[in-house]
Amino acid sequence: MNLTFSLIKPSAMDRCEEILMAIKAGGFSVLSMKTQQLTLSQVKKFYEEHAEKSFFTSMCERLALGPVLLMALYEPNGTDTPLKFRKLLGATDPKQALEGTLRKQFGVDLDANAVHGSDSEISAIRELSFFFCGMETGLELNGS
Ligand code: CMP
Repeated sequence: MNLTFSLIKPSAMDRCEEILMAIKAGGFSVLSMKTQQLTLSQVKKFYEEHAEKSFFTSMCERLALGPVLLMALYEPNGTDTPLKFRKLLGATDPKQALEGTLRKQFGVDLDANAVHGSDSEISAIRELSFFFCGMETGLELNGS
């Protein structure tokens, strides 16, 4: 799969131009993007797999604090794009992230870790479909 989903969190929106440049420099193209203020109920649905975690409520509240940049990313001739993008993203905790990764450069802590990226192809399809219609990503056309 040569598509993945990414989101710039409210805490990093003041650096979204720099983050976009770093994403493009990392080899990913933007197929579709939009800025949106998410409601708390949208965020809770988006992160529903984490519903049992102790940090679920605070994590959701932070994502609903201000506008986010939603992105459908792709690699024209790529494969395993979700996995490759996770490498560019770096560890969930910016303090553990490697030099050169997005979270090392733009993240602050576990909650304000700047950028989200789908953790698998299945997640990418679910997350892309959650925010973008098939016409925007092409997912509807190729059935993947
Ligand atoms: P993200 O990749 O968006 O997916 C789940 C988010 O939970 C993660 O980034 C972190 O911002 C957030 N989070 C907050 N606390 C923790 C924690 N203790 N362990 C993992 N993720 C956490």
